[in-house]
Amino acid sequence: MFGRLITLEGIDGSGKSTALQHIARKVAEKQPQRKTVLTAEPTSGEVGRILRAELSAASEVEKPSAALLMNELFLFMADHAQHLANTIVPSLKDGAVVLSDRYADSTAAYQGVTLEGIVPHPVSWIQEIFRPWNVVPDMTLLFLLDPESALMRLKSRRGREKFERLEFLRMVDENFRSMASSEPERFVLIDAAQDEGTVARNATRAVLELLGR
Ligand code: TYD
Repeated sequence: MFGRLITLEGIDGSGKSTALQHIARKVAEKQPQRKTVLTAEPTSGEVGRILRAELSAASEVEKPSAALLMNELFLFMADHAQHLANTIVPSLKDGAVVLSDRYADSTAAYQGVTLEGIVPHPVSWIQEIFRPWNVVPDMTLLFLLDPESALMRLKSRRGREKFERLEFLRMVDENFRSMASSEPERFVLIDAAQDEGTVARNATRAVLELLGR
């Protein structure tokens, strides 16, 4: 596979989706000979659609059962598997630059919180399940923003969703940070507290540097 896989990660409201559009434009401009593929998880595919319906139904449940949370984990994993098979692997074989808004690290970071107390060491347990079959990104941009500010941004955008409570986002943020510190060669930390333009430029610089190597 001779393409490049770059993933964007961060808590809800961290501004990664806005930066993604900017990165994609610049990559297409600087490397017009390369195909750029923009994608995301949860996907808009078969499992992705089931997943979104499950998530909105589960958000009504005050204290979800272990079974419901495991169902959620495996739906995210099945969605990831389908994403790999249908989009990621074929695009990389095609030599494309693949930019994914969220990827398997989101599953480790988010379900690593929901499964706390259900399985021991959920983050590393989830990472172990992915390890034999996942395609590891060439680079992961981690958008860092304190959860309070992220929630403020989200509130001005729309109503709260299941994964957008402060305590929860604090724990997700911690998981992302510790995952990044254990794989410093893959993760690039982006200070997402700066203004939108600066964040997008910094993220783009990191990507262009990788592609120029
Ligand atoms: P996303 O589509 O990024 O959010 P939005 O609809 O705001 O653009 O993701 C939806 C939610 O799902 C988000 O709160 C993060 C969460 N999520 C997980 O819990 N695990 C995962 O594996 C992924 C990909 C997302």
